[in-house]
Amino acid sequence: MKKGTRGKLVTFEGCEGSGKSTQLRLLGEYLTSRGTDFIMTREPGGSVIAEEIRKIILNGDYTEMCPECEAMLYAAARVQHLKEIVAPALDSGKLVICDRYVDSSFAYQGFARGLGMEFIRSINSFALENYPPDITLFLDISPAAAFERKHGADKNDRLESLGLQFHERVYKGYKSLVGEPRFCPVDCGGTKFETAEKIRNLLIERGILD
Ligand code: TYD
Repeated sequence: MKKGTRGKLVTFEGCEGSGKSTQLRLLGEYLTSRGTDFIMTREPGGSVIAEEIRKIILNGDYTEMCPECEAMLYAAARVQHLKEIVAPALDSGKLVICDRYVDSSFAYQGFARGLGMEFIRSINSFALENYPPDITLFLDISPAAAFERKHGADKNDRLESLGLQFHERVYKGYKSLVGEPRFCPVDCGGTKFETAEKIRNLLIERGILD
């Protein structure tokens, strides 16, 4: 990447069980093998302070946490991580791959928890205005289909215990973002290697990789 050019921000999104971690690993291996200058990071977290905020948000004991507080903590962790980790990397021309970003807040808090997209937009305005993703790769598989793929079709009772309804709402939330030019659904129906190839092709088509 040329000096003086801002690097690109690639974000990964998906529901539980969508294979996001596997695809991040495969892309990381590919980028390393071709000598690309990149960082891979994640939300919520990715910096010391943001990881501390992550511990509060994901602490199962804090059942009384209201959705607004949850959404604002995700936004707080986001802005800290952006300023401390993402922005300096982009400014030095690096490619940044981020596991989850604002669209997780749209899908989980805005849609599934019912806070509304406008509320999420307003508390995330710093990220959205200054660091919109260049491309968002949404691993498009419903939670039910992902669970079936992993455990077989006959385990519906376990789906319930995992809060399937909530995750299906998250999936619907993601689907409502389809249509934004940067938001690219990636069909995950094939093998993990086929999905990885689709991802690489999309990154090439969008001019992120050559
Ligand atoms: P994590 O264990 O990293 O999940 P995953 O491997 O699925 O990415 O936990 C992150 C959780 O935080 C995940 O359930 C999604 C949720 N989340 C939100 O609800 N809103 C957000 O803005 C972000 C970034 C994550």
